[in-house]
Amino acid sequence: MVMTKQRIVGRTIDLRDVTASDASFVFSLRRDPLRRTYLSETPDDLHAQLIWIERYRAERRQFYFIIEDKRGAPLGTIRVYDLQPDSFCWGSWILRPGAPPKAALESALLVYEFGFRELGLKRSHFDVRKENRRVVEFHKRFGAKIVRENDLDYFFTFSVHDYMSIRPKYVGFLPESAAAITEFAGTATLTASSHS
Ligand SMILES: CC(C)(COP(=O)(O)OP(=O)(O)OC[C@H]1O[C@@H](n2cnc3c(N)ncnc32)[C@H](O)[C@@H]1OP(=O)(O)O)[C@@H](O)C(=O)NCCC(=O)NCCS
Repeated sequence: MVMTKQRIVGRTIDLRDVTASDASFVFSLRRDPLRRTYLSETPDDLHAQLIWIERYRAERRQFYFIIEDKRGAPLGTIRVYDLQPDSFCWGSWILRPGAPPKAALESALLVYEFGFRELGLKRSHFDVRKENRRVVEFHKRFGAKIVRENDLDYFFTFSVHDYMSIRPKYVGFLPESAAAITEFAGTATLTASSHS
């Protein structure tokens, strides 16, 4: 299945499909010594990054976004991948030094809106290095659950049901158009049954 999404519009940031011209930004972000500790290794080769993006754009089996501000300045990256019949994985989540403080929260919310509302999936799954305490805490604060662990990683799951129960608290970080939506198509039964 070929999948494309050009832009996800947020309140103070947007997610925009990555292009070949983003290669040096992505490369410098992923090679940043303060950012790369808990990421999978990025080869020290800008050309390899460019090839990776070109292959991504040719294959279209996942979604790789640049997080940018409303003037189009790049702030970071985020990726939705490993799409399964009812679940999506997300990660490659990086913000550059000096990104606005709430860019992390907004970008995570936009990924959940995309996966749960637009793609209509019921769950999200992702793994986080145990030592990446800040990110582990971020996900726990949202209510994501650790379902498995190994020496290195925690494996989280976060359901649309979990998301809908915290969403009202965060609606102010979503675009105004999202605020009016209180039920997601395809998840209405799930939401309704949680009240019965
Ligand atoms: C992952 C990454 C993008 C997260 O961004 P971050 O800015 O560190 O995220 P934080 O957890 O500090 O959250 C940002 C702000 O949102 C706030 N916030 C986070 N979760 C929140 C919640 N549930 N409710 C309200 N506010 C929340 C935080 O308090 C923080 O605000 P503050 O700066 O005023 O305290 C960033 O740490 C990064 O680039 N890390 C390196 C790469 C990496 O390890 N990626 C993850 C791989 S799994």
